[in-house]
Amino acid sequence: MPEPFVPFQLERLLSTWENRVEYNLSESGVHPMSVREVLGDEAALDAFGGLPLRYPQANGTPALRDAIAALYPGARAENVLVTVGAIQANLVALAALTQPGDAVAVLEPNYRQLWGAAQNLGRRVATFGLQPELEWRLDRDELARAITPATRLVAIVNPNNPTGRALNGDDRRAVVEAAQRVGAWLLADEVYAGAERASDAVTPTFYGDDARVLAVNSLSKTYALPGLRIGWIVGPVEAVARMWAWQDYATISAGMLDNQLAARALSPNARPRIIARTREYVRRGFERLGAWASRRDDVEIVAPDAGGICLLKYGRPIASSDLAMRLIERASTLVAPGDAFGIDGYLRIGFALPPDYLDAGLGRIGTLLDDL
Ligand SMILES: Cc1ncc(COP(=O)(O)O)c(C=O)c1O
Repeated sequence: MPEPFVPFQLERLLSTWENRVEYNLSESGVHPMSVREVLGDEAALDAFGGLPLRYPQANGTPALRDAIAALYPGARAENVLVTVGAIQANLVALAALTQPGDAVAVLEPNYRQLWGAAQNLGRRVATFGLQPELEWRLDRDELARAITPATRLVAIVNPNNPTGRALNGDDRRAVVEAAQRVGAWLLADEVYAGAERASDAVTPTFYGDDARVLAVNSLSKTYALPGLRIGWIVGPVEAVARMWAWQDYATISAGMLDNQLAARALSPNARPRIIARTREYVRRGFERLGAWASRRDDVEIVAPDAGGICLLKYGRPIASSDLAMRLIERASTLVAPGDAFGIDGYLRIGFALPPDYLDAGLGRIGTLLDDL
């Protein structure tokens, strides 16, 4: 008997409600940019109008793959596969580089895409964790237990979703060495790198730390362009070829408009501007969330290192998915429940939003907590 299908609880909740509520504080990215903002001027926008909408180069246009490769030390265009979001990059890596029955080790708490997809594809999933008692730092004993000679792939999200924490240097080395010891692939989903709150340094990529590292990223979070549906994976040429072979079956390619706009977003005249905008949203948003939380005695937060997300511990005897449903029904406000990430008792709040909108959404959450 096959195991029951594991649904992607978080994505289905968000897809159902994100365009229907008055206040959407469930988004982990940054308030989105417009086409005009990406292109920067009217002439570029006008030129875009004449773009023929044929299929783009299926593994990503050369200009886009060059722009991506330039972000990774030692990478060239042939190390890059452009995908439909980071979500597809993670899936093709899992499909191409592991077999049914293989062991996969996943860092928790987690976005849970790989965790669920791996189970649905018949892989055996072990987890290791960031610990709340350590302010969401890595538990090295769990790491050592989860990774065994049978492990084929180790999957991490760094900076992490939902905690916003980034691994420190020692913990990074511990993860790389643990994967290296058993010859496993290390898949690092780095979609929140560049959206640092507390530092101006970009969280370094794992790419280059070992020959078997695969680095995943996208334009959806730090670049505030989730509607473009552009992601990528950077890895050894032979692994990239195997992943592209799966993409042939799944999507052929991302869209032509997406590829063109993505290359513009990563160009030297747009990228710094977008990252500066993101950091402004992240820093201003967290200040407001932090001030709101400090005025309440019933919630606790740990400041994130990067990304527009933060876990809120609410200390009430109600499951987080029930609390999230009450917020939808009574306050038309959407947040992500902790249990969708494997940690009940928390809500994940997205705060990289326009100030008035964020304040109003937090106000709705506060009123509901008061009424509980
Ligand atoms: C860690 C992580 N990976 C991947 C994704 C999927 O993003 P996308 O496919 O839009 O790039 C998300 C979205 O929330 C995420 O948080």
